[in-house]
Amino acid sequence: MSKLRLLMTCPAFPGILESLSPYYETVDNEEDLRLPEELLTEKLRDVQAVFTAGNARFTQQVIQHNPQLKIISAMTVGYDNIDVQTCREQGIVVTNTPDALNQTTADFAWALLLATARRVTESDRWLREGQWDKWQLRGFLGADIHGKTLGILGMGRIGQAIARRSMGFDMQVIYHNRSRLSPEQEATANNAQLVSKQALLRNADHLILMLPYSPETHHCMGANEFAQMKPGAILINTARGGVVDDAALIAALKTGQIAAAGLDVFENEPRFNPEWLTVPNVVLTPHIASASEATRRAMQQCAVNNLIRFAQSGEVINRVA
Ligand code: 8YV
Repeated sequence: MSKLRLLMTCPAFPGILESLSPYYETVDNEEDLRLPEELLTEKLRDVQAVFTAGNARFTQQVIQHNPQLKIISAMTVGYDNIDVQTCREQGIVVTNTPDALNQTTADFAWALLLATARRVTESDRWLREGQWDKWQLRGFLGADIHGKTLGILGMGRIGQAIARRSMGFDMQVIYHNRSRLSPEQEATANNAQLVSKQALLRNADHLILMLPYSPETHHCMGANEFAQMKPGAILINTARGGVVDDAALIAALKTGQIAAAGLDVFENEPRFNPEWLTVPNVVLTPHIASASEATRRAMQQCAVNNLIRFAQSGEVINRVA
């Protein structure tokens, strides 16, 4: 049987291309070329399979121009960059990588919360600027984390992993989610308590967003929500750009309505709103929550496993469409 042609939209770790080669004729992207819509449409023309990260957008147009596609294997858990509905209509299989990044992403949500509450990056910048000439009673006063109420909006696998880590900080956990966790899941998530979105906003000292992006969650954190949060509250977004109304958050941070924010994701990334650079009480990172070497390798391996299973049997392991 002839091999399917596979387009990689991103570079691969050593061994990945080799493990695909018995099954696919691969067009690699080791140069890490950006693939805007037109170029992506063009590159897809004679391929049937795709290995992608979040770095390429499979819009309705891109997909409709390429009806020969059979499978899109994403090395990500979120797949809002892929028009899954159109894939379903065209019979294109879509897979993702649930679980591979849960722990690493949960670690990073904590890294952002700690850095934001204790003003780590702000004080690092100040020190490097040579401004440290005396001890100051009020120098970089931050917020405590221990003993506080942690709010989590979006309590999937990563949200639960974040909640488990709060035990060591003697925190109380409240969450809001589409559905309630089982009693066992709530118990392991530091006895997390399901509350309404309004109660979450009103009671969380620190709020972490960990919900997927969709038209329903678009701007689910905006001016109205920020106005309901506790004075001094800290907001962390390790979910997706677009879940937060960035312009409204910039305004809320500038007026001090929200004390500080830690953000790994942005609207329109990587071309994020340049006004972010003028906001001091924010920690900004370039969508790196899953970026540990072991986890990024595991994500690629998971995407490969889906592709290999597909080539062998037409089945996949982590099907989303
Ligand atoms: C990716 C992510 O690194 O898996 C996801 O959904 O957000 C990250 O782990 C990102 O999408 C870039 O490809």
